[in-house]
Amino acid sequence: MSPHLDDPAAYPAGDPRGLRELVRGFPGQVADAARLAEGLRLDGGTPRSVLVLGMGGSAVAGDLVQALCAERAPFPVVVVRGYGIPAWVGRDTLVVASSYSGQTEETLTAFEAARRRGARALVVTSGGELGACARREGHPWIRVPAGFPPRAALAFLLIPLVVLLDGLGAALGGEQVREEAVAVLRALGAELVPETPVAGNPAKALALELAGRVPVVYGTDATGPVAYRWRTQFEENAKVLALSGVLPEMTHNAVEAWGGGAGTAWAVVFLRDRGEHPRVARRAALTRAIVEARAPVREAWARGEGLLARLLSLVLLGDWTSYYLAVLRGADPWAVEILEEFRRRMMAAP
Ligand code: F6R
Repeated sequence: MSPHLDDPAAYPAGDPRGLRELVRGFPGQVADAARLAEGLRLDGGTPRSVLVLGMGGSAVAGDLVQALCAERAPFPVVVVRGYGIPAWVGRDTLVVASSYSGQTEETLTAFEAARRRGARALVVTSGGELGACARREGHPWIRVPAGFPPRAALAFLLIPLVVLLDGLGAALGGEQVREEAVAVLRALGAELVPETPVAGNPAKALALELAGRVPVVYGTDATGPVAYRWRTQFEENAKVLALSGVLPEMTHNAVEAWGGGAGTAWAVVFLRDRGEHPRVARRAALTRAIVEARAPVREAWARGEGLLARLLSLVLLGDWTSYYLAVLRGADPWAVEILEEFRRRMMAAP
């Protein structure tokens, strides 16, 4: 029998290392993280382009920065997950190497290529080889606190970067926008913690809805990267395969598959945001009508005024939902044993 999510004993039993305390701390981490940018100077003024290098949990910060900058910053932000860098990277590019551990080979390899091109560099890490490189070569370094699973360190990977890019002219709204995000997250966080019973807890309710089904998460416009974050949190925390996509794009392909016959038990969540284009909102309504014939559908609406608050409110909801799904499934939400074994094998491989 699955544990009952309102039973306090379910948590120490299902989550012995206490990932819940890190998720609970997210609003406070967002409040605290700006100080990691203090005293850092990025010379050279507004860059022509920004390239964020990272994998997994450390790349998500890049996705969110890209979404935040998209309609504001005078420079494009591109995220690369892999070993190589685009041909356009040069001296007028700011390259951000984001790796929580500082040991991720794809990020280290791509960062080396970017330095050979003469790109301006910024390092975001808790240490490792990347930290050693920053120290040796004198690159500005956002020092992320150690002891977190990378995916639970998102506030530290993201917020100082937002502060520094704001300082370079990204027009992200400064301290006021960050303070609003913290207030929204604190209010939402109180609803989502294990002490709040299922009846008033949207994350517990969603996890119960998703249990035994394949989660499918669709974002709209700016919430696209958050849909991907939900998917990866389902995969790493709850150890379930999940799908994600984004509107309007999925209304040009995946929607066709939703018209097909029955089969897998799916459950769909749309991440909605009041900033989405009105035609995207229309597409979301049409898509929902098609999907509902095949699967239960839920909508989760972003909260807050600024885009930072809106995106992070959905991140927090997804983090808690994947957490509760892990507890329901009896999966340790902290452990990522296969991922770690994979990393060891790759390090041993020539
Ligand atoms: C583990 C996690 C992973 C890592 C990824 C890259 O919690 O989220 O997706 O983020 O393996 O490692 P780092 O972040 O250390 O560069």
